[in-house]
Amino acid sequence: VQEPKTDTFDDNDQKPVGYGRMLRKEDPRLIRGRGRFTDDVQLPGMLHLAILRSPFAHAKIVSVDTSAAEAAPGVKAVVTGETLAGLGLAWMPTLSNDVQAVLATDKVRFQGQEVAFVVAEDRYAARDALELIDVEYDVLDPVIDVRQALAPDAPLIRDDLEGKTNNHCFDWETGDADETEAVFARADVVVQQDIVYPRVHPAPMETCGAVADFDAVEGRLKLWSTTQAPHAHRTLYAIVAGLPEHKIQVIAPDIGGGFGNKVPIYPGYVCAIVGSIVTGKPVKWMEDRSENLISTGFARDYIMRGEIAATRDGKILAIRTNVLADHGAFNGTAAPVKYPAGFFGVFTGSYDLEAAYCKMTAVYTNKAPGGVAYACSFRITEAVYLVERIVDCLAAELEMDPAELRLKNFIQPDQFPYTTKTGWVYDSGNYEPTMRQAMDIAGYAELRREQAEKRARGELMGIGISFFTEAVGAGPRKNMDILGLGMADGCELRVHPTGKAVVRLSVKTQGQGHETTFAQIVAEEIGIPPADIEVVHGDTDQTPFGLGTYGSRSTPVSGAAAALVARKVRDKAQLIASAMLEVTVADLDWVKGSFQVKGDPSKSVTIQQIAMRAHGAGDLPDGVEGGLEAQICYNPSNLTYPHGAYICVVDVDPGTAQVKVRRFIAVDDCGTRINPMIIEGQVHGGLTDGVGMALMEMISFDEDGNCLGASLMDYLIPTSLEVPDWETGYTVTPSPHHPIGAKGVGESATVGSPPAIVNAVVDALQPFGVRHADMPLTPSRVWDAMRGRATPP
Ligand code: CDP
Repeated sequence: VQEPKTDTFDDNDQKPVGYGRMLRKEDPRLIRGRGRFTDDVQLPGMLHLAILRSPFAHAKIVSVDTSAAEAAPGVKAVVTGETLAGLGLAWMPTLSNDVQAVLATDKVRFQGQEVAFVVAEDRYAARDALELIDVEYDVLDPVIDVRQALAPDAPLIRDDLEGKTNNHCFDWETGDADETEAVFARADVVVQQDIVYPRVHPAPMETCGAVADFDAVEGRLKLWSTTQAPHAHRTLYAIVAGLPEHKIQVIAPDIGGGFGNKVPIYPGYVCAIVGSIVTGKPVKWMEDRSENLISTGFARDYIMRGEIAATRDGKILAIRTNVLADHGAFNGTAAPVKYPAGFFGVFTGSYDLEAAYCKMTAVYTNKAPGGVAYACSFRITEAVYLVERIVDCLAAELEMDPAELRLKNFIQPDQFPYTTKTGWVYDSGNYEPTMRQAMDIAGYAELRREQAEKRARGELMGIGISFFTEAVGAGPRKNMDILGLGMADGCELRVHPTGKAVVRLSVKTQGQGHETTFAQIVAEEIGIPPADIEVVHGDTDQTPFGLGTYGSRSTPVSGAAAALVARKVRDKAQLIASAMLEVTVADLDWVKGSFQVKGDPSKSVTIQQIAMRAHGAGDLPDGVEGGLEAQICYNPSNLTYPHGAYICVVDVDPGTAQVKVRRFIAVDDCGTRINPMIIEGQVHGGLTDGVGMALMEMISFDEDGNCLGASLMDYLIPTSLEVPDWETGYTVTPSPHHPIGAKGVGESATVGSPPAIVNAVVDALQPFGVRHADMPLTPSRVWDAMRGRATPP
């Protein structure tokens, strides 16, 4: 373990420290119930909006009769797709260059699609009136099985797109097909495995919602909404509504979890805006749990065929995959334009390969749109699952220990920066110490001995390993954008005369603790205590432009911006200090919090004294303006590539096929660690997510397209009862291009843990000859696997 260069302190004292285990500044507000979420916004005269959703997955809309609803008590407006079409607002762009119906006009394309909305005096009146809207549907055959979507006789879903004759969404490929074929042809061993990453849902604690307040006199829109990307959303509203950005204020107040679910723009947000324009009053829309589960951005839904080629002694040569991607009825992902399959290209994992190739076909189906990056950087979860499963399949084929196989094939420290066969440039990494530490914490050799003894007694114990490399922190802007908006982030820092500071960010926390860690980053650079640094975010009127928080990009991009803007302020402070101390700039040393004259520490000025001087009476050095503030826009030169080694120990009950996660060891490397306590919290949360995906969660559909996971009774998410005490460790391999060497960590554990758990369960089932079983590994699926029955799709 390389010890990071950080101060560690457990109380939030006033020491001018930066990095360390600082308690979260936002918690006194949040844990006392004093947070202010979208649903807490109350405005005078505010009305409430409820949305009528389609009960069918695929149906023509014959007629919509709203007369009874309009006459219901308390109802102020009823709006249909036809009304919106008249305003040119029936369709909106998605963040993936597709269009999506705000309210259906011609037909509905998934169960839960928005058909009409009611605005009423209260939430109950609005909901009751929905039942009075009479919609006549002409039901069509739905396309539910993704494998049937491209069949010549499959019903056409997107007949709204001109010239569209099939359900094809896009094709994408990466790597070199011929080179990979040649390597496969000469390999000693080739293993192939079909692997499904099922549709899951981010299911944040707070559902999505908005409060829209349109001021017709000023032509100004104020929108509180559950958005992870306030500035990007504002620009999209500006384009759709034809209003300039400065007339639109998007406020993301406290957010109860996002996990990618709050990146897309949902019809509900647009409906709230239209509702306010139509009624002239503020309008609130807050979806319920079922609406969130059936209609907002799902994640994953990839059917992958993985192939791996190796020598007999375990040198991995190449990986190839063919993916069928289910994008639902509208392509509602939010991925950089050049990357329609997100960052799936990192499916080569942490291994030094000779060749790699991926071919992907994405299709439309009659299911909710999405494909959002649920706690991952644009499809990296799917990529890591594929490679870490297929490497385990290879280990089984070679009868080699899976840890040994991985250690033998890691990219070596002296190979960084390492360009993968699919063109990604890994910035830094030192994989073996991370892996060895996880094995040490686990007592790997001892666990294998225990397993052998248990197997001899007929007990089912499994040990699963996953070693991941992530790519987080999108941009750079030259090849990454969302709808043409470059992936960079602005940051502004103002130091007041008394030495207190405000830092304004374009990213937006949804619980990750930015109010604390960004204050720490600035504190580390300019020596003002974190307690004296206010973090302002989530309000487009108050913050510089930037692309928002998702894909663990806040620390790699906005964190870099915060460090650099602070350095800019420090440079100016140095000029002022040189005048105050009557020495040249070169004669000053920076000692966190003050400038000292070289060789004479008794002559020094603190940052607070400099701040007062910067704003005070009297002359400043020539060319130095008054005030102590700076602004920058940071464009990352590359992504950052955190890595981690995870080991999971499970016991499977041979009688019930129930899986119990007995131990889980997670060693993460996210470069320089700003706040280890927050990092551990992020890792604990992500690991819990991983248990959910591996063992419990799946959004499935019946053959008519009815969503079977529409409540938390059916869509199981893990609680503390299903998870063990996490055992964590860390290594530190700084990012060479990030100003403070930090890499993202928010999503590492969600990305890395599912393969470790599945590998452990498959390992436990080795006595039954099981090589693979698809998630979620519910007791019935494990039971089927034990009895050699294929997992249903
Ligand atoms: O974009 P998001 O905030 O979801 O992910 P992140 O950048 O990985 O950061 C998650 C939280 O962990 C933030 O509060 C970060 O500042 C903190 N973090 C840290 O303390 N040290 C790191 N090297 C990375 C993140």
